[in-house]
Amino acid sequence: MNENYQSENSSDSKKSIGLIPGFSKLTKEEKLKFICERFHQTPKEAEKILKSFWHEDSEVQKNLDEFSENTISNFPVPYGIVPNVLINGQNYFVPMAIEESSVVAAAAKASKFWFTRGGFKAKVVNTLKVGQVHFKWSGEKETLFNVFEESKEIIRDELTPVLESMEKRGGGLKDIELLDKTDVEENYFQLKATFETCDAMGANFINTVLENIGAQLKCIFDDLSYDGELEIIMAILSNYTPDCLVNVEVSCPVADLAEPSLGMSAEEFAEKFATAVRIACIDPYRATTHNKGIFNGIDAVVIATGNDFRAIEACGHSYAARDGQYRSLSKCEVENGYFTFSIDIPLALGTVGGLTTLHPLAKFSLDILGRPSSKELMEIVATIGLAQNFGAVRSLVTTGIQKGHMKMHLMNILNHLGATDEEREDAKIYFKDNIVSFSEVKKYLSDARDYQ
Ligand code: MEV
Repeated sequence: MNENYQSENSSDSKKSIGLIPGFSKLTKEEKLKFICERFHQTPKEAEKILKSFWHEDSEVQKNLDEFSENTISNFPVPYGIVPNVLINGQNYFVPMAIEESSVVAAAAKASKFWFTRGGFKAKVVNTLKVGQVHFKWSGEKETLFNVFEESKEIIRDELTPVLESMEKRGGGLKDIELLDKTDVEENYFQLKATFETCDAMGANFINTVLENIGAQLKCIFDDLSYDGELEIIMAILSNYTPDCLVNVEVSCPVADLAEPSLGMSAEEFAEKFATAVRIACIDPYRATTHNKGIFNGIDAVVIATGNDFRAIEACGHSYAARDGQYRSLSKCEVENGYFTFSIDIPLALGTVGGLTTLHPLAKFSLDILGRPSSKELMEIVATIGLAQNFGAVRSLVTTGIQKGHMKMHLMNILNHLGATDEEREDAKIYFKDNIVSFSEVKKYLSDARDYQ
């Protein structure tokens, strides 16, 4: 290993660290050693932990390492299944990758609840994606608009080789619009392009097309030496895709909501639930937490299927603020004795290409789901978002969230405290009627051990 990377004393290395060039040039083994020696009191122990998470099949590990950079280990997250999710009459078993306790359990409970009440009705509204070429033009606006209109067909013709394969699959570039943005930024214009990318998320395709359009635009204006200068600022897809939208709803007569576990009448529950959702529409503080609950479900399925959860979250939150105020993504109505709970959410997902084909568990997830089209995946993901939201709001307006949450968390605390299987079972019984907290569990375990 390179001398520069030797730490003299791992305990004070954090204070003395300066810029260390070339970390990326080290081998994986060297990177791992460097980190352990620099930042851990017991480097050998740390190395062992990191290596224990390497995949035993070196081909799989190589594959995982190549997704990212500077990898030294893997970071496992639990992979669970929500059974019996009835969507448009079809029963799905939905995979979720998530570390937070209660999330899979809540989605499963909500799915079971709605299975016997008609299931989820899902519908894709539209599947269009958006990309932009941002540029500055210092000449006459009229010249820009006229030349763009005259050049539109030529630009499209030049794109033929790039569009060919997507067009064969039924997708492609649907429209390009020139927008005047000079009221918000001097000389700023934008080409807003609309795409259909079929079963692919399509990021690479869209970005390639946009960069090509940008280069053509620059060429046209440079070549013809108009009175004015055109400068391309950037060309990139937008993760805001309000026209890649899916709607899911559940509904039933209010009376059918009745269940002893609600601890109140079906009518009271329906009203309280609808009020809670209205509060999330009115108040951004509550809306943020309400939508976080929705994304607990959505992100977990998006990750399990190898899609980009950051893009999905960014889009969902922008959509939640589309009228200028951040609001709930879900809606609830109680009308004429009928309870309806629904969500409209943009989800730009893919079921071919990218990680969906490269990550072994993403492939597996799509197999469990029956190799869905991207439209079908939009319906499944949005359904889990709605199920998750139903589960969370149902708990909030009935028992409160902590009861169920802390029960699940009990296992984490017991594991942390090194409880045996027998102690875990006894603790589960004890904490059925007692409040779970870290200190209470610690005290319980210590008392139980003293007693023996
Ligand atoms: C916790 O991860 C999510 C909830 O806070 C969502 C909600 O409050 O609706 C339970």
